[in-house]
Amino acid sequence: MPKKRKDLITLADVRAQEIYGWFELARKLKKQTRSGKTQTHLRGKILAMIFQKPSTRTRVSFEVGMRQLGGHALYLASSELQIGRGETVADTARVLSRYVQGILARVFAHSDIEELSRWASVPVLNGLSDLTHPCQALADYFTLLEKKGKLKGLKIAYLGDGNNVAHSLLLGGAKLGVSVTCITPAGYEPKPNVLRQAIEEGKSTGASFEVTSEIARGVRGADALYTDVWASMGQEAERDARLQIFRPYQLNEDVLAATGKKDTLVLHCLPAHRGEEITDGVMDSAHSVVFEEAENRLHVQKALLVSLMG
Ligand code: CP
Ligand code: NVA
Repeated sequence: MPKKRKDLITLADVRAQEIYGWFELARKLKKQTRSGKTQTHLRGKILAMIFQKPSTRTRVSFEVGMRQLGGHALYLASSELQIGRGETVADTARVLSRYVQGILARVFAHSDIEELSRWASVPVLNGLSDLTHPCQALADYFTLLEKKGKLKGLKIAYLGDGNNVAHSLLLGGAKLGVSVTCITPAGYEPKPNVLRQAIEEGKSTGASFEVTSEIARGVRGADALYTDVWASMGQEAERDARLQIFRPYQLNEDVLAATGKKDTLVLHCLPAHRGEEITDGVMDSAHSVVFEEAENRLHVQKALLVSLMG
């Protein structure tokens, strides 16, 4: 029996079997939630949520998820914690572990979430770092599974910045047998070590991973198109330059047609900057599942919370 997982920091260290376990639980919890059944899996448990960056979906879905499971969540803006005045991450982790049963954190430096995980005696969940966004990718793959009925053998074409969201899609795809092509302008590719890890792991699951700047070739045959903002949180100073560089990589009607398929799905982690990385026409088309994807953050994260904190 593998040791019970304490944290979710990156999909790189998760097994496919665990992911399918979370998906199965998420499916049940989603059904129960929709039918209005009371859930008490985390009765009396408290989740501390540290945010160094803004959030709509992550904050609300975790807070609502904890409530629905009979627990409670505390929103902690890092600027209002002593961490903002120099208390170490390690000390914060040790103190919070005395009060709460789980810690969610959204951070800039990925090393902060690793440090939290190292020092906290309670489960730590990564709610986005500059490097990865595992909860997002889990909700994305859960959505694809719901819509397509399977994951193995699917192909995602990701357009835009090789960022945290792209990294988690790559790492998750490698586990689940989903091939991912990243179509990025030169200089904005995913990190080579993340790509290497995905390629290596994909050998045993039949998934392949490619980075290209050729849009038409990259999207051909894609079961899903995915995009994200061109300037992530923390990159505001680069925004104008990025708007120019990424302009040709917009997910628009021509790109959708270039897949050559009629049933291609459109995914976006949101928030979307409509008219930039995605057009209204695509985002509001019948291909788009972005709002179900956002809803699935709730159900998948509830499964994670039950599995880690239950
Ligand atoms: N997709 C996502 O994580 O959204 P928020 O930044 O609103 O949490
Ligand atoms: N890549 C984006 C994702 C937002 C959910 C960012 O880091 O800002």
